[in-house]
Amino acid sequence: MSDDGFQPGEEFARAMDARDPLAGFRDRFCIPKMKSGEEGVYLCGHSLGLQPKSAASYLEQELRDWANLGVEGHFHAMNPWMPYHRLLTQQTAELVGAEAEEVVVMNSLTVNLHLMMASFYRPSQRRHRIVIERGAFPSDQYAVKSQIRFHGFEPAISLIELAAREGESCIRGEDITELIERDGESVALILLGGVNYATGQVFDMAEITKAGHRKGCVVAFDLAHAAGNIPLELHDWGPDFAVWCSYKYLNGGPGCVGGCFVHARHADWKDLPRFAGWWGHEEKIRFQMGPEFHAMAGAEGWQVSNPPILALAPLRASMEIFSEAGMERLRAKSVSLTNYMEFLLRQNDSAKFSLITPCEPERRGAQLSIRLTDLGRGICDRLAAEGVIGDWREPDTFRVAAVPLYNSYADVFRFVEKFTAALR
Ligand SMILES: Cc1ncc(COP(=O)(O)O)c(C=O)c1O
Repeated sequence: MSDDGFQPGEEFARAMDARDPLAGFRDRFCIPKMKSGEEGVYLCGHSLGLQPKSAASYLEQELRDWANLGVEGHFHAMNPWMPYHRLLTQQTAELVGAEAEEVVVMNSLTVNLHLMMASFYRPSQRRHRIVIERGAFPSDQYAVKSQIRFHGFEPAISLIELAAREGESCIRGEDITELIERDGESVALILLGGVNYATGQVFDMAEITKAGHRKGCVVAFDLAHAAGNIPLELHDWGPDFAVWCSYKYLNGGPGCVGGCFVHARHADWKDLPRFAGWWGHEEKIRFQMGPEFHAMAGAEGWQVSNPPILALAPLRASMEIFSEAGMERLRAKSVSLTNYMEFLLRQNDSAKFSLITPCEPERRGAQLSIRLTDLGRGICDRLAAEGVIGDWREPDTFRVAAVPLYNSYADVFRFVEKFTAALR
């Protein structure tokens, strides 16, 4: 961790907040309150981001147009619903470092993962394996295993799980490239989290993509914990596809519509096998209702159904705020907040916990994962009762994230103070 001149007392946190240029954004979010009416310390943006206060007005607009216009809203709503999802395209593209044609907001993460694998996981007898992280998010494990079986292969043979070395928590970059170098010719798909959900480790996506492509593998990322958390340059890094959800760092609301990236090199590959639906059909002829599917160019060609407008509306509110704040400034504050949290935690010489997230800022995002080997989830429950919200991941990990849009240095200070008391 870099020593940013942090000091242990509460005045330091207050002083940092006073000179934080992004501090005002906190007021734009609904901060959950404790029973006392006082604002709690919400450190769970890695699981469900907070509600922008402006979300309600975005949603109300669409409810009003639906009430007043019925089906006519598709063309005559203030924001016509037919192209409504495109209101999010430019901001989404900027957020993930992509061209507009490479992104689309649709469905939810695991559904998009399956849609992408339908096109990009095309196993053969020679090349049928999928590489994931050991202990990848369960939905990803289920999705890839079911795809392997769907194609008549066996996960016991076709799934490679990248693991951390004995006694370590995070996977070493050199172990990833070595595995790709060694086994790459039998690998059809490399699918890693951009940020690992359990440890908070950021993977070197550019390097992994390069190594995978050198061996002829399809390379993809699950960006559930990366989108809105760390800067992304998907177009330049060059993965074939990526998927993410919008309810964590993107504050789109519970179960909000996810996002999908398909690299421009696949944009016009229209005969790529896919699970098609009318919303991915060439827009100009969609309403001719013809029997043959003609895919739209780019990521939009993977759409299946018409999008849920009422779920997209709150996401627009949040994406507006992201554009205003700017990812560069957000990342700078995020690095500082997380370093500060680590600094305060390390003041505490208790042997009852350890940090499993990498120390280097470039190898982590906002999340810190704290291993509590003996104390168990009781600490998490106790902190929740005191208004400090993190979350517990079995068997031994307490996850917290200070989100730069709405968390303050004072939040971090209060968390560590209560955490330290709970340890005792
Ligand atoms: C890394 C990761 N992948 C996949 C998912 C599943 O997302 P969804 O329920 O939107 O399909 C999650 C959900 O938290 C996740 O954290």
